[in-house]
Amino acid sequence: MTTNKESKTNIFNTIKNDPEFFIRKCRSEDLDDVIDVNEKELPEDYPYFFYKSILDDCPECFLVAQNKSGKIIAYIMWRVEKAPSVNSLKYINKGHLVSIAVSEGFRRKGIAKALLSNSMTAIQKYKIHEYVLEVRVSNYSAIRLYEKFNYNIESIKKNYYRDSENAYFMTLDVKDF
Ligand code: ACO
Ligand code: ZN
Repeated sequence: MTTNKESKTNIFNTIKNDPEFFIRKCRSEDLDDVIDVNEKELPEDYPYFFYKSILDDCPECFLVAQNKSGKIIAYIMWRVEKAPSVNSLKYINKGHLVSIAVSEGFRRKGIAKALLSNSMTAIQKYKIHEYVLEVRVSNYSAIRLYEKFNYNIESIKKNYYRDSENAYFMTLDVKDF
């Protein structure tokens, strides 16, 4: 059972002060609903254990959005990765946006923006230097969303997706968020 106190601490934010939706941390029991949203909205599907390991490794940055009746209508999940720094031989932490999706009937209400800003703040706990992501070159709405947060296209990853579409590799320095 979720106590009042627990649910309060798990709630990050309502969206644009809209009481219809709110954002909270994902819990294991939400994963089937998250997978449902993913399978409807994105061609990239992952097995259950993949979601579970992402949740276990970075529970602060795996968020869901719920509507008033409690239905999960969106999610965002990130991974923290160690990568060589461009400027030195040191390894630095990067926040890698693994996946975000909002159910079709709930788009253009600011839900993705709220998921991104809350999770980008939460992942800073892992002392990341940079946010990174890949997005299909044809995915206009997602590219616009990332540009709104000042992400830049750093390179193109050729044949990145299973159907061989190219990806934009987009990055944002933590200092610029
Ligand atoms: N056309 C143009 N710009 C758009 C569109 C669109 N259809 N949708 C979102 N945007 C941009 C706009 O700049 C918008 O700001 P504005 O409304 O002030 O103009 C901004 O994104 C934020 O919009 P939100 O309402 O917060 O976005 P939404 O909740 O609708 O979700 C998302 C956007 C996640 C891209 C949604 O369309 C979706 O789920 N698409 C299918 C799944 C997907 O493509 N996910 C991203 C894959 S890449 C990855 O996961 C790393
Ligand atoms: Zn990726």
